[in-house]
Amino acid sequence: MYQLHLGQLTVAEFMAQYWQKKPVLLKGGFADFADPLTPDELAGLATEEDIESRVVAKTADGQWQLETGPFEDYSAFGEQGWTLLVQAVDHWHPEAAQLIEPFRFIPNWRIDDLMVSYSTPGGGVGPHLDQYDVFIIQGMGKRHWRVGMPDASLQQICPHPRLLQITPFLDCIDVITEPGDILYIPPGCPHDGISVDASLSYSVGFRAPAQKDLLTGLADFLIEQDQSGARYTDPHRQPVSDIGRISDADLDQVQQLLLGLVNNRSLLASYFGQYISHAKHELDASEPDPHYAADEIIEYLAEGSVLGRLGGLRICYHQSHIDADIQLFINGLTITLPAEALPFVQLLSEQVQLNEDACQWIAADANKAGLMTELINLGYWYFIE
Ligand code: SIN
Ligand code: CO
Repeated sequence: MYQLHLGQLTVAEFMAQYWQKKPVLLKGGFADFADPLTPDELAGLATEEDIESRVVAKTADGQWQLETGPFEDYSAFGEQGWTLLVQAVDHWHPEAAQLIEPFRFIPNWRIDDLMVSYSTPGGGVGPHLDQYDVFIIQGMGKRHWRVGMPDASLQQICPHPRLLQITPFLDCIDVITEPGDILYIPPGCPHDGISVDASLSYSVGFRAPAQKDLLTGLADFLIEQDQSGARYTDPHRQPVSDIGRISDADLDQVQQLLLGLVNNRSLLASYFGQYISHAKHELDASEPDPHYAADEIIEYLAEGSVLGRLGGLRICYHQSHIDADIQLFINGLTITLPAEALPFVQLLSEQVQLNEDACQWIAADANKAGLMTELINLGYWYFIE
């Protein structure tokens, strides 16, 4: 288990002073840090088709190279100046997934994934901006980091067709990070990390949808539900001569029509929960074969089994008021439950591991055990012992 140390700061002070506002180095954020994986294990993950990986390299003559995985061999990149980046490692490596847990003061739906990078000396992806908040945890080795504040005068440059970098920036943080140090970087802050020696970095990334994503997702949801919603009507229209014009009054009505859609809170909640609980990357779910029957599950849970939640599984819920039904969203699936299921819903969404007591509590109730059976049969929870 990793424990986050924020120095003099409380979590609430960190949120008030830094979150989405300014970058900060949390020196020794994880005391006595032990890497959850080795560079060899990371390279092993990068051999898999289903796992997104890339290598960014800077050649001796200053050219940038970007290759996408899977990778079997790195000899072409030489001994230095390159980085292997592997996305969504929390989906595949339970020990590495533990690195996300100390940041669970942010709701599940805002958390994206754990990206892990291995850099050779001099390796880095170059100066760039990201659209998302990130905590970059330094693992083995050291890295020279420079981070600045958002600056509208920075220009995007493309030293390689698939690599977006920025022009030189002024830094407000210039440090060499050591194992266990954590750098928090808000969206839009320019940053550049160059590895001093062979090093590992773990990025706990967040997700924040843009209006375009939300609207595209909403349109997909309506199509899937076969809902066209209300249609434009104009029973009070007056004749006009300027027939080419879209009038402001017409546009107001179009605006109202669209707002009517997003003002429908129950539609919005159903859509948003389903949309945001979809994992962006492949999950490592494997359905048990054959499926378990509920009475088998009850027996195992009552006997002292322990359940683990699939790495990277996105789970969140919405309840409009205290007595209302709950909509539980798990990887794009919506399950409606009565208000009294709240403690169970919170247990499922808050705990990545269900201990013996929790499992026995579930086994003692047929409704809970029934839902748990379905979730185990989907491969979303699995027996650890
Ligand atoms: C890295 O881990 O190598 C790059 C992380 C970043 O700058 O976003
Ligand atoms: Co970055």
